[in-house]
Amino acid sequence: MTSPESVNHKLKSVFITGTDTEVGKTVVTGLLGRFLSDKGYNVITQKWIQTGCKSFPEDIFSHLNFMKRKRSDIRNYLEYVCPYTFKLASSPHLASKLEKRKIRQGKIKNSFSILSKDFDSVLVEGIGGALVPFNNKKMVIDIAGQLHLPVLLVVSNQLGCINHTLLTIEAIRSRGLKLLGLVFNNHHGKEDIITKDNPKIIKTFTKVRIFGHLPWVKDSDGLYKAFNVIGGRILNELKMDVNDG
Ligand SMILES: Nc1ncnc2c1ncn2[C@@H]1O[C@H](COP(=O)(O)OP(=O)(O)OP(=O)(O)O)[C@@H](O)[C@H]1O
Ligand SMILES: [Mg+2]
Repeated sequence: MTSPESVNHKLKSVFITGTDTEVGKTVVTGLLGRFLSDKGYNVITQKWIQTGCKSFPEDIFSHLNFMKRKRSDIRNYLEYVCPYTFKLASSPHLASKLEKRKIRQGKIKNSFSILSKDFDSVLVEGIGGALVPFNNKKMVIDIAGQLHLPVLLVVSNQLGCINHTLLTIEAIRSRGLKLLGLVFNNHHGKEDIITKDNPKIIKTFTKVRIFGHLPWVKDSDGLYKAFNVIGGRILNELKMDVNDG
């Protein structure tokens, strides 16, 4: 572990989206959070809107677990890590409509900007897949675009993911967002001719960077070990260029 004193510069923040809901965004966000913390960076995670929320936002709770942190460690930032929670596990536009509470992008951007001042990097976990609306006009990814967040895409490596991934990449690129690259999550450990070929054909069509492949491992320390190489590659991409200011 690098001592925090030896790291005195900011990293880019990142928006972590997925090819669908339940593909491993929370797992990758938590692992990346732990990795960057272990390297001496002061990082925090965010989930702008948590739907299906009973009390404390579940994904933030999982990120904290991966990062070996407690809720009290972020006590001063609780209102900013998850500005919106809703009961129904659905797209934010519907959950918000049912509870008659509008989702205001100003509130989300403000919470992000407060965290980005106090932390070296904010890891923002997306909601569902890339094109998820939070009202009748706007998608969550529009906010990521306004904040100039580069995107990390988690792909559930399974039959059907070529289409999901190519569509998602097209959606990200056509909106002018920078796509850092992909992490393939080995869905339920299935390895066959299809899952071996998926990354190759996706790379052929898009030339996108593939950071690596996450195995299906239930214990989080084992998963973290497997994530190390991926984390190192992502860290290099998050380092600021001189021109980033
Ligand atoms: N590599 C993995 N090894 C073992 N379990 C995994 C792995 N990736 C994901 N899972 C499990 O699969 C489930 C879905 O993963 P996760 O919660 O990270 O998805 P998500 O994309 O964040 O979903 P949501 O859209 O609800 O936020 C979780 O129970 C998680 O623990
Ligand atoms: Mg999640």
